[in-house]
Amino acid sequence: MKQNDLILFKQQFSDFCRSFHSVNSEDQRNFDLKEEHTRHVCENMVGIGRGLSLNANQMLLAETIGLFHDIGRFPQYAKYKTFRDSTSVSHGLLGADTLIEKKMLQTLPGDEQEIIIQSVKFHNAFAVPKKEKDEIIFFIRLIRDADKLDIWRIFLEYDEAPDEDRASAVGLGLPDVPEYTEEVLANIFKEEIVSLSNIKTLNDFKLLQLSWVFDLNYKPAFRLLLERDYLNRIIAHLPQTDGIKTASSLLKEFVQKSLR
Ligand SMILES: [Fe+2]
Repeated sequence: MKQNDLILFKQQFSDFCRSFHSVNSEDQRNFDLKEEHTRHVCENMVGIGRGLSLNANQMLLAETIGLFHDIGRFPQYAKYKTFRDSTSVSHGLLGADTLIEKKMLQTLPGDEQEIIIQSVKFHNAFAVPKKEKDEIIFFIRLIRDADKLDIWRIFLEYDEAPDEDRASAVGLGLPDVPEYTEEVLANIFKEEIVSLSNIKTLNDFKLLQLSWVFDLNYKPAFRLLLERDYLNRIIAHLPQTDGIKTASSLLKEFVQKSLR
């Protein structure tokens, strides 16, 4: 693909966002948050891509995947008024379908279209699919890293904001109580990603976010995680019990090990 393709895609994406404009301020705020998230994810794609010394064409593909990864959020919210996939649809799948239906990638060769579509489709899947081509898996892993890095940013903004300024959708409406679920902490001890279905409190959700480090793929992503101090900042908002302290040392050790 060429630089001009990316310029066109950016234009198409902002036109697409504008087509969902809502007079309802809460709805519009949710759309704006997704547009802002997209900008940050594109930056993360470029940052990780540079760290991996991708060639010019791969960098353009990476940025395009960042740009379109959450395109499904717009029709999802317009139809279901929620970003919860479990009560609506997979927004990755919907995004891939949207790109195909709207023929948005038409100017690109077929193999590049496939890379972008599959990366959008699987960016939010519980795990990376095993049966894809290596090149596609490479980009699926890349978008998953770039996306997680920005979700940590969003969640911390929520955590660090005064109560009255919090966008309620970010905390998933979970009770902000001192408790956490032992099984959730046990996932971290086993270096497993916490499943959303086990989450009962806001602290569980913070532990789930921490467990994402086990699904991070590339060293430049681990470096960005450290630079931005996301782990310590999330841990600071958890009760400092012995269990949490042990989990946090384990997580930090995992990051150090991944950078070696
Ligand atoms: Fe997403």
